Amino acid sequence: MTVRSFRELKAREEPITVLTCYDYLFAQILEEEGVDMILVGDSLGQVVMGYESTLPVTVNDMVHHAKAVRRGAPRSFTVVDLPFLSYQASDAEALHSAGRILKETGAHAVKLEGGNEDTCRTIERLVRAGIPVMGHLGFVPQSVHMFGGSLVQGRDPEGANDLLDRSRALEEAGCFSIVLELVEGSVAGNVTRALSIPTIGIGAGAECDGQVLVLPDALGLNPGFNPRFLKRFAELADLSRRGVRSYIAEVKGRTFPGPEHTFGPEA
Ligand code: KIV
Repeated sequence: MTVRSFRELKAREEPITVLTCYDYLFAQILEEEGVDMILVGDSLGQVVMGYESTLPVTVNDMVHHAKAVRRGAPRSFTVVDLPFLSYQASDAEALHSAGRILKETGAHAVKLEGGNEDTCRTIERLVRAGIPVMGHLGFVPQSVHMFGGSLVQGRDPEGANDLLDRSRALEEAGCFSIVLELVEGSVAGNVTRALSIPTIGIGAGAECDGQVLVLPDALGLNPGFNPRFLKRFAELADLSRRGVRSYIAEVKGRTFPGPEHTFGPEA
């Protein structure tokens, strides 16, 4: 896959599959099963590191996890999030952060949040330097403290128009694709039809060009998190608990390790 392939998938109306990933073993599974794009999201702040939000995540954290993902999925198109305050202060800092991520991890692209004039200028600068950029509109978690009330965006005409304007501005600035997070379904559909680059939805309905989910949420590793948009495709927390419980019982009951797990004198 290349940035161009995603436009081609959109043109062919073939849904694009994206999952987040943060480690080597799951990266192997994602690559072997043929997901179209892997996103090393700064959601790792919550689902891997246990923070309340994505705000504490650093470029070093992103590089550390992206390297592991790339080792597990060396052939997959991989996008890495630019974390909070790694790109907002100046274009020079954005270039430095994005450049570090591409150079040190071998990832193909970066993602950053928002669509105002400053963000678009930064995206233009990154794209001019040869760095592919994915945009992110709707609910943008790095601005969590700016959102009051409903997190679903685009429910009022003003919000819907704003989303459309910003998505067009991101396309113009050079983004190869845009994540739409928590956007009213028909508004996400209008944005999708207005653009020639693909939209990737999370909580944005079926009219986006592709879908992304946070892997631990999708696999049921985070069963306390149950928003309307989420479907759990496996129940790994239950499975893992049962495994851990059996392990403890068998060690305590002296049934593990058995003779078949024990080295004898001969090879
Ligand atoms: O950080 C992340 O995982 C994301 C997805 C929710 C799109 O940005």
